[in-house]
Amino acid sequence: MSDEVGAVVDVVAATAPEIRDGLADRRAYAEGENPSGERQLAADIYADELLCERLLDVDAVGSYASEERDAVVDGGDGRLHVACDPLDGSSNLRSNNTMGTVFGVYEAPLPAPGSALVAAGFVLFGPITTMVVARDGRVREWVLDGEDGDRRLLDEDLALPAEPTVYGFGGRVSEWTDAFAAYADRVAGELKLRYGGAMLGDVTQVLTYGGVFGYPGLRDRPEGKLRLLFEAHPVAHVVETAGGASSNGERSLLELTPERLHERTPLFVGDPGYVDDLEAALN
Ligand code: AHG
Ligand code: MN
Ligand code: MN
Repeated sequence: MSDEVGAVVDVVAATAPEIRDGLADRRAYAEGENPSGERQLAADIYADELLCERLLDVDAVGSYASEERDAVVDGGDGRLHVACDPLDGSSNLRSNNTMGTVFGVYEAPLPAPGSALVAAGFVLFGPITTMVVARDGRVREWVLDGEDGDRRLLDEDLALPAEPTVYGFGGRVSEWTDAFAAYADRVAGELKLRYGGAMLGDVTQVLTYGGVFGYPGLRDRPEGKLRLLFEAHPVAHVVETAGGASSNGERSLLELTPERLHERTPLFVGDPGYVDDLEAALN
């Protein structure tokens, strides 16, 4: 891809193998906390530093923001603004489970509305390393198995399966609201539980097998855990482009504009029917 958005995607693809190779020796906690008050692994910081430096080297990229940084990093007058979670699911590193890098490419300064996304995607560090990118109304999936971001196209029009099969809901069940617990109970009677504790692995289960993933607002945390700009917008853009739906419990996540960079939101993505039912159950 020689175009500007393609240049961003190429950088993420080229950086992914280095992030993955750096995981084994960066499982320890670093000193600080991220702006959401969560402890950081050395791997979080390593991935963030690589991506920030490489992405700001792209002429078209005017700024970079991440889950690991308090403020937006200015990178000149490029028209694209990249928000990313350099290592989503990094708590899965100790248990050697899936995690990945998720990014959104906006045409407006950050924090931006979901409608300003021109592309979004994520790399999944599973048994193999894959990347999905939603842009121009289509989702493509690649295997990242070469050096320097070389990749093999797996699917040039990835679509959410029409038949829902799996579900995964995060947060402590004891903190679920009664309305959500009743909805989850119904879903559990109809679909198979697939919850791995890392959003990108869980969302990929839904994209592969059909169904619904969510991290709801909780009694003690009505805004939920996941971040609107760094996690919800990109994943919603991918799932909606693949024919699915997204919601914060009331409306599409892409209709939301974060006031604060690290604003959290309840997040649901997947089968449009189950997302509709969720909105009805919560309202
Ligand atoms: P991150 O590792 O970037 O902080 O994100 C982890 C997120 C997300 O991947 C996952 O869905 C959720 O945290 C799991 O939260 P719980 O540990 O509360 O289940
Ligand atoms: Mn995350
Ligand atoms: Mn993270």
